[in-house]
Amino acid sequence: MQSITISAPVSRRGGFPVAAVISLLPCVMFAQLASNSASGNATMKAVRLHDFGAPEVLKYEDASRPQPKEDELLLRVIATAVNPVDAKIRAGGFRLGGAQPQMPIILGYDIAGIVEVAGAKTTKFKKGDAVYGCLAIMRGGGDAEFAVAKEDELSAKPASLSFAEAAALPTAAGTAWQALVEIAKLSEGQTVLIHGGSGGVGHFAIQIAKARGAKVIATASAANQEFMKQLGADETIDYKATKFEDVVKDVDVVLDTVAGETLKRSYAVVKKGGIIVSILEPPDKKELEARGIRGSVFMVSAKSDLLAELTKLVEAKQLKPVISQQLPLAELAKAHQTIETGHTRGKIVMRVADEPKS
Ligand SMILES: NC(=O)c1ccc[n+]([C@@H]2O[C@H](COP(=O)([O-])OP(=O)(O)OC[C@H]3O[C@@H](n4cnc5c(N)ncnc54)[C@H](OP(=O)(O)O)[C@@H]3O)[C@@H](O)[C@H]2O)c1
Repeated sequence: MQSITISAPVSRRGGFPVAAVISLLPCVMFAQLASNSASGNATMKAVRLHDFGAPEVLKYEDASRPQPKEDELLLRVIATAVNPVDAKIRAGGFRLGGAQPQMPIILGYDIAGIVEVAGAKTTKFKKGDAVYGCLAIMRGGGDAEFAVAKEDELSAKPASLSFAEAAALPTAAGTAWQALVEIAKLSEGQTVLIHGGSGGVGHFAIQIAKARGAKVIATASAANQEFMKQLGADETIDYKATKFEDVVKDVDVVLDTVAGETLKRSYAVVKKGGIIVSILEPPDKKELEARGIRGSVFMVSAKSDLLAELTKLVEAKQLKPVISQQLPLAELAKAHQTIETGHTRGKIVMRVADEPKS
């Protein structure tokens, strides 16, 4: 994870990344630029894009099966999850250090599947292991029957979750964990305001905050008020009916998954010494200094150690993905149309293969 924390009066680091770039970030940011192409004769079904553009550019077609290197694993993909970053890459807005992934691109970085081949230099997993994780954007994703992963991108699939549920976790739950636990250090008795509490990141954030013993206030539209309460939110706000700053004050932490006006209006509700963590836009240094609060913006990196923390919460029954839509892989374009509305409830998951029986 790259985190930029701004404290008043002294900032730990100067300079911010461009906000627009932050909004495009993958779960694994600094993965090696490696070949997304496949060699060998074996084919597979995949959804690929050959041009950037609207969801229609996603083509369900035959592709070569990727070949793992000695330090990689070949996975048989069972499920992938859709994140806003997938749609942003597809639309052509994604840049990583000025570069874009090379065509043809396979999206779908959050995956769950079964190890088909373990490279000779891998040590953690063997053929047949059920795993989940987040693949590197520049190498290529899992919206295909097979995908290649590095060991540190994976963790054992939580036994209590289906493959579809496991695929829903890495980017969204990893972001919520890093924001609340690693950066804000949210602790028992504190109060957190979560903007976008019904979305991919937000619905995990509510659960993680409750697991930390915090009081949770969460915002979303009217249709999602009951949903957020069921997830554990103590108070919910319909952002279309009520200005949150009229009813919230002196919170310890704000988690901002919305940015823009929402971030601008959030400074006033944080108590002195508190923190705003944004996953989209750097908080304004002057505002932070004037109010004696801290701010942070970061890019998620959901590697094995973080996935292991999520697994612990899942096994303790404190974290459970909510899947609002499951679609067959061939219908990925439909999933992209939904995710780019910015109004998805919980997660959208693509079914690549049937869930194994045992
Ligand atoms: N920095 C990082 O590493 C990182 C990681 C993950 C995601 N992100 C970015 O963070 C953003 C959110 O991701 P996500 O996966 O949670 O998206 P998502 O699944 O599309 O969820 C968005 C949620 O925001 C709510 N919402 C929309 N407008 C709102 C407003 N004005 N006030 C309060 N809530 C509002 C929606 O609820 P209603 O339908 O009720 O409006 C929806 O549930 C995306 O832009 C994504 O690219 C960044």
